[in-house]
Amino acid sequence: MDKLVIEGGVKLKGEVTVSGAKNAVLPILAATLLTDEPCVIKGVPNLRDTNSMLKILRALGKCAEFDKGKVSICAGKAASYIAEYKLVSTMRASFCVLGPLLGKLKKAKVSLPGGCVIGVRPVDLHLKGIKALGADISIDSGYVIAKTTKLKGAYVYLGGVYGSSVLATDNVMMAAVLAKGKTIIESAACEPEVSDLAEFLIKMGAKIKGHGTPVIEIEGVKHLHGATHSIIPDRIEAGTLILASLVTGGDLLIKNVQYQHLGSLIDKLNEAGANLQRVDGALHVKGNRRLKSVNITTLPYPGFPTDMQAQMMSLMSITPGISVITEKIYPDRFMHVSELNRMGAHIQREGPHAIVEGIKSLSGAPVMASDLRASACLVLAGLAARGKTSISRIYHLERGYENIEQKLVNLGAKVWREKE
Ligand code: UD1
Repeated sequence: MDKLVIEGGVKLKGEVTVSGAKNAVLPILAATLLTDEPCVIKGVPNLRDTNSMLKILRALGKCAEFDKGKVSICAGKAASYIAEYKLVSTMRASFCVLGPLLGKLKKAKVSLPGGCVIGVRPVDLHLKGIKALGADISIDSGYVIAKTTKLKGAYVYLGGVYGSSVLATDNVMMAAVLAKGKTIIESAACEPEVSDLAEFLIKMGAKIKGHGTPVIEIEGVKHLHGATHSIIPDRIEAGTLILASLVTGGDLLIKNVQYQHLGSLIDKLNEAGANLQRVDGALHVKGNRRLKSVNITTLPYPGFPTDMQAQMMSLMSITPGISVITEKIYPDRFMHVSELNRMGAHIQREGPHAIVEGIKSLSGAPVMASDLRASACLVLAGLAARGKTSISRIYHLERGYENIEQKLVNLGAKVWREKE
């Protein structure tokens, strides 16, 4: 296993381009199961998760080629309806093959993804929505088995205890596009990645309205055809790079940014006194040592993203004042707190809150990454810290950040890999 070593304290400087959005590409790849015709997806980030989804598609009978950011998919050998545990367990997003398999083949057997380190992650909303469309669902030996003679459009309320669900909205939308009649999804997730999936489905011939709002209307069609689509930029990678500039007091021009997808983060950073300037599809971020602490509460989009909580904690840990960070999506997503404290941070966890008392600077230390966004948080902390930080279990980072090591090196960071 590799670890990432960072010699901190370098101000990052230069231009960097954000890759395509991981959370958009995964369901969009799953959506290609809805047609036998060829599909081409562009701007695809070369990530561990993307490659996991391609493996699943191949196991389900598709031919899939990935070359220089372009994925070409066509029908291969006989289509299978079984997504096995060994593939699904590597990545939760693979559960979103359930909707398209059921829509296209009228049956699906998909392994339950299980929990993960950021907390319990149930699939009750996915199953509630699919059931409402007329599928029979049973659970057997860790698999969801779904069957139908014909899916029928229905009214589906998808709000859960923690608000809307991104992948449940994706799954139900993909099942509904080939159902007979109209489906209304209420309390749908409004994330830009859900809208990107809807746009792809529309290019395939689906009839969808209201995506990007909490009420999505889908009029079922008989057949979907192949389509070509370009993936939206990754707002979480963009946010992480913005913070990389701020924690190092750097000067970055971040390209391929959709400003409107970053509203809640930019608003918080403005409140903290950051210097962010919008320049034609790019963002100019100049580090500013005089930031002040701000409070953050994660919420479904357009609220502050849970996927930026850990990274924001790195910034707050070196910003004067007290910041209260409240996690409302995954109340246990605080694995990074103890690792930041190993680097000298003053953070106390109280249930779903972390109370961060900003200090002058962090000091490099050996730390361990527990999950994808915690890894990003530790990379930011390592870039900002005095001395050397080594982050073990760095494979988590490869799940969601394309070529990040090289991107940081190009900006002047002292980052390298070592064998553990
Ligand atoms: C997606 C993102 C992930 C992000 C998360 C929240 C992808 C591939 N992943 O994950 O990066 O952190 O959104 O923005 O897009 N819930 C239920 N029942 C369900 C489903 C979810 O109670 O059936 C709960 C979850 O436990 C969580 C909340 O709803 O508390 C939101 O989760 P959800 O939006 O479903 O997350 P994912 O779609 O899995």
